Amino acid sequence: MTTTADETTAAPEPSAESYLQIRSLCKDFDGITAVDQVNLDINKGELFAILGASGCGKSTLLRMLAGLETPTSGRIVLDSEDITDWPAYERPINMMFQSYALFPHMTVEKNIAYGLKKEKIEPDEIDQRVKNMLDLVQLKGFDKRKPNRLSGGEKQRVALARALIKNPKLLLLDEPLAALDKKLREQTQFELMNLQEELGVTFIVVTHDQEEAMTLATRIAVMNSGKFIQTGTPTEIYEYPSNRFVADFFGTINIFDARVINVTGRELTVEVDQSDIQMKAYSDKPVAIDDNVGIAVRPEKISISKQLQDGANITATKGVVEDLAYYGNYSIYRVKTESGQLVQVSAQNQTRSSDHVVEWEDEVYLSWEQNSSIVLVD
Ligand SMILES: Nc1ncnc2c1ncn2[C@@H]1O[C@H](COP(=O)(O)OP(=O)(O)OP(=O)(O)O)[C@@H](O)[C@H]1O
Ligand SMILES: [Mg+2]
Repeated sequence: MTTTADETTAAPEPSAESYLQIRSLCKDFDGITAVDQVNLDINKGELFAILGASGCGKSTLLRMLAGLETPTSGRIVLDSEDITDWPAYERPINMMFQSYALFPHMTVEKNIAYGLKKEKIEPDEIDQRVKNMLDLVQLKGFDKRKPNRLSGGEKQRVALARALIKNPKLLLLDEPLAALDKKLREQTQFELMNLQEELGVTFIVVTHDQEEAMTLATRIAVMNSGKFIQTGTPTEIYEYPSNRFVADFFGTINIFDARVINVTGRELTVEVDQSDIQMKAYSDKPVAIDDNVGIAVRPEKISISKQLQDGANITATKGVVEDLAYYGNYSIYRVKTESGQLVQVSAQNQTRSSDHVVEWEDEVYLSWEQNSSIVLVD
């Protein structure tokens, strides 16, 4: 795969010495495969996100890492030790559950201290570590409250403190922010990132929210039906989705179904189905004449105008504006092309709205750089 992800977003390549190594991990439940041959390498201190729709096997995978579920096959190695057969309580791993699972009858303080009490640590040290945790998650003064007197965000932070207090080598967060409203979720995303940076703990976060995965993580795995479909940095997955599923699942994208009519090296010419529209694109995967492919383009890569913007490496197609939504700083257009397909375009509003040149029912040209097209072969 070509990778032009900028250096700042690119995580170092995992190696054979990776901190966490997951090898061919599988879990069957009565003939149903919940996790299917998952392989993964994670570096120390990474914040890794697993993204996938409901039921795709995310929690089952985390539960196997935590030792709460026995793998059907496969191995898990953490910090050079094969922990596959270790009981949950011996693993240097903590998990924060989808529901937080706080003890309702215990105060915040006792909830946070719970894991340490079980380890028979001196009471003075427990008090100090609980205090440090309360500071860290910004819950000073909440120590004597019980969970039913906490907001959703506060409960989340208690659960986080409880998971962190034992200094785990690996922290597993199952949908940590799902129960929070949008604003609090965004704020908590940043807190979580800061906390992770401060502590240097390796995090695996499960989410079904693509934007959350993108803002939080150094790398993301997109999961479907128990399998990892693509693993990469947020930029790699957004700009270079490896197949139709990832392209469709991750952000908004326009996909033109098309047939290959010419191949010259990496450059293809395709004809869009049900039309005589031709497009050129580059493919790093082998394709042959008559193959069916998808040509995918992100809405922000397309420019919309009343005049044809021609050029050597420009793909252009004509259409009519069916829908227009004004969001202040940008607008979203839905344009029906001659093949009958609705294409979504997002455009920054660089001039004042009264100067808008494109309106409803206008005939427009959509154009984009040829190398903005993503060729999807499967
Ligand atoms: N204990 C179990 N017994 C039988 N089937 C199970 C069990 N746990 C999970 N499954 C099945 O395995 C599949 C994956 O479940 P899992 O909970 O891992 O999904 P998920 O990706 O976490 O979903 P969500 O986003 O809804 O939490 C589902 O089809 C689920 O019904
Ligand atoms: Mg789950």
